[in-house]
Amino acid sequence: MKIVLATRNRKKVEEFQRVLVGAPLQLLDLRGYPDAPEVVEDGTTFTENAVKKALQVARFTGLPALADDSGLEVDALGRRPGVLSARYAGPGAKDRQNLERVLVELGECPELERTARFVCVLAVADASGQTQTFEGVVEGRIARTPQGENGFGYDPVFVPEGEGRSFAEMSPAEKDALSHRGRAVARFVAALHGHVGPVLA
Ligand code: IMP
Repeated sequence: MKIVLATRNRKKVEEFQRVLVGAPLQLLDLRGYPDAPEVVEDGTTFTENAVKKALQVARFTGLPALADDSGLEVDALGRRPGVLSARYAGPGAKDRQNLERVLVELGECPELERTARFVCVLAVADASGQTQTFEGVVEGRIARTPQGENGFGYDPVFVPEGEGRSFAEMSPAEKDALSHRGRAVARFVAALHGHVGPVLA
C-alpha cells in the first residue's frame, strides 16, 4: 500500500522510515507535493489535529495518508505545552526557545513534581473520509538542564521513566524503542498485519 506521510519535517520522515522498515508500505511524504496546502493545527486535542492532517492530505493526494500529532504534557504546568508544543514560545519559535520556556516555568520545581509525558496520536485516512487512530505514550520527567545533542524538540530535557539519560543522549534506535511515536507506530503496524482492527479495509 502506498501511503503519504503528512509532514515535510525531515527528522520526522526519518523516524517514520526507521520504525516502519519492513512494513508492507511504500512511504511517500509531502516534500513530493509542494502544492499541498498547509494544515492549520487548531484542534484542542492531538487526535483532532492528527485526523485533520491525515484527512486533508488524503483528499489532496487521493492516496491513504498517515499523520501524527504529538507533544509534551508537563503535569506541573497543567499539561501544557500539549498541542501547543511546537509553538510554545510563540509563532515560529525554535525548539530551543520552547524548551527554555518550559524550564523557566518549572523553575525550582522539585524532582518528584517534574513528571511529564510525550503523547503521539497517529491517524490514517483515505480519500473517502475513513479514519483510524493509534496512540502512544511515554512517561518521564523534565531534567533541570538540557542534556545531549541527538533528536529534536524537547528531547534534551525529557528523561523517560526508569532511565538516567535524556532522549537526546540516546541513539535513534534506543529512542524509538521507548518513544511515544515508536509505540503508536507499533500499534499501527500490528493493525496492518491484522492483529487488531482494520486499517482502512
Ligand atoms: P507536531 O506533532 O508536528 O505538531 O509537533 C509536535 C511538537 O512536539 C514538536 O515540534 C516538538 O516540539 C514536540 N515533540 C513531539 N515529539 C517529540 C519528540 O519525539 N521529541 C521531542 N520533542 C517532540
